[in-house]
Order: sequence, then structure tokens, then C-alpha cells
Amino acid sequence: MPRLSEKLTLELNAQMGREFSASNQYLAMAIYLDDKSLSDLANFYYRQSEEERQHALKFMHYVLDADALPVVPELPKPKSDFESVEEIAEMSLSMEREVTGCIHNLVDLAMEERDHSTNRFLQWFVEEQIEEEATFNRLLDVTRQSTNLLLIDQYVSRLEPTGGPDEGA
Ligand code: FEO
Repeated sequence: MPRLSEKLTLELNAQMGREFSASNQYLAMAIYLDDKSLSDLANFYYRQSEEERQHALKFMHYVLDADALPVVPELPKPKSDFESVEEIAEMSLSMEREVTGCIHNLVDLAMEERDHSTNRFLQWFVEEQIEEEATFNRLLDVTRQSTNLLLIDQYVSRLEPTGGPDEGA
């Protein structure tokens, strides 16, 4: 594998930071939901938080494998208070859309640099983001259609985080 360019190293590190940041934000959402005794929703968000941490570690290992240096970033404080479950679902979908945009920008950069290894590595995330956006789109639909929090909680108990494209979830 060719050594990563300085620019790609910087951008892949920034994405690692965004994944850690998403992990913290989903954890803060899980705690809020747990405190409201919405256990299934809380568990969904605990698992989502762990999944984002795994995404961050994928970036970290890739940068290391490409003979560059990952740098653990300083993270912004996550939002911890919310008006409603709908606000949480909206914020989650908006976070995922932002991540999708960042991943696509990274693919553009890898293609510009003719870095085929990084492009191939990023394709896992391109697929993963399709699933992540679909999951949160469905959750948002359900929260908008139901004022019954227990029904939303029940719905989420059947919803698993995607686990990633190659895990077939
Ligand atoms: Fe790792 Fe949900 O983006």
C-alpha cells in the first residue's frame, strides 16, 4: 500500500474524530433515553454509540497500516438535553447525512490523488452510510407518526444497528 499523502492523512484523521464525536453524541442520547425509562430506544443508541467507536477505530487502523500517524482528537461536548424523541431522531439523521457528505468528499480526494487503496477502504463506509441513513429515516418516520412513546420503544426493539455492509445485518 502506498504511503498516505499529508492531505489524506489529515482528512482521514478528521473523519476518525467525527466518528468518535458521533459515538459520544449517541451515548449522550442513550443516557437521556435510559433516564426516561425508554429502555429499548436507549439500548439501540448504546449499540449505535459502540458502532461509531468501531468506525473511528477502522479509520485509526487504516491510517496506521498506511504508514501514517493517527492523532486522537479533542472532541466537542455532546448535546445532552432534548425536547423529544423526535428531536433525537432528527438530529441523528442530520448527523448521518453530514457524515455521508464527508465520506463522499474523502472518496473524491482519494480519486483525485489516484489513491486506489484508500478509495477501496472508503467504499465500506459509502455502503454503510446508505444503511445508516435508512435506519434513522425509518426511526424519524415512526416518531413523527406516533405520539405513544411506548410504541416507538417497541418498534426500536426490532431495529438493530446495521453492523456494517459485510456483516449482512
Ligand atoms: Fe459512522 Fe453513523 O457514521
